[in-house]
Amino acid sequence: MKGVILAGGLGTRLLPLTKVTNKHLLPVWDRPMIYYPIQCLVNAGIEDILLVAGGSSAGDFLRLLENGADFGLRRIHYSYQRGEGGIAAALRLAEDFASGEPICVVLGDNIIERNIADAAARFREQGKGAKVLLKEVEDPQRFGVATIQDGRVTGIEEKPKHPMTNFAVTGIYMYDPEVFEIIRTLRPSDRGELEITDVNNAYIERGSLTYEMLDGWWTDAGTFESLLRAGNLVADGGANNI
Ligand code: G1P
Repeated sequence: MKGVILAGGLGTRLLPLTKVTNKHLLPVWDRPMIYYPIQCLVNAGIEDILLVAGGSSAGDFLRLLENGADFGLRRIHYSYQRGEGGIAAALRLAEDFASGEPICVVLGDNIIERNIADAAARFREQGKGAKVLLKEVEDPQRFGVATIQDGRVTGIEEKPKHPMTNFAVTGIYMYDPEVFEIIRTLRPSDRGELEITDVNNAYIERGSLTYEMLDGWWTDAGTFESLLRAGNLVADGGANNI
């Protein structure tokens, strides 16, 4: 399985922090935010990563990460997302890189306490379809929210005003190569973006989406509150602890 990290977008929710740099280069405790999703993929046994960057500071990722050897990666590839087309639009840029292999996608601002090695192993066994990782949260209206019935996810709603459950869909997704066919069928949402939630709902319709609950804490870091929380959580006990 190959890894894809989506670090595009303009980080407008963090202005003025993101006026002259990319959100994913901001510090989370003692290292740049982007280090955490990379380590998450490395801990799942992934050696080939594509980083999709965006904005005016995209070149800084190359200066920071070089060839990925410091993380033990075999190779790190780079791509560039123009503007704010959404997560699924960024993922579309990974099609050539994936070249028919399954992929594990991590959003560049998602940080976890533990690791996804077992979930990745189970997805490798699953062989096709998709897998999402869920986490119970207190503020589900900020996320994609999953409804579960009889052990299956029956629907995901993106940032619902009145969430049906507290199960947030984390920014860690596993997909078979059909994901790129699905992305081609998407239409932009009301906010003008291709939504990853629409991709996941397409897998639900096909009956091939599985889910797991993520172990340990999980946070995003794309708002002032969550960026602060991420720093405090990491300072208290570290992230990506195997
Ligand atoms: C995105 C997804 C959302 C998911 C979240 C996880 O939201 O659209 O479904 O729950 O990432 O971090 P964003 O925070 O990019 O608006």
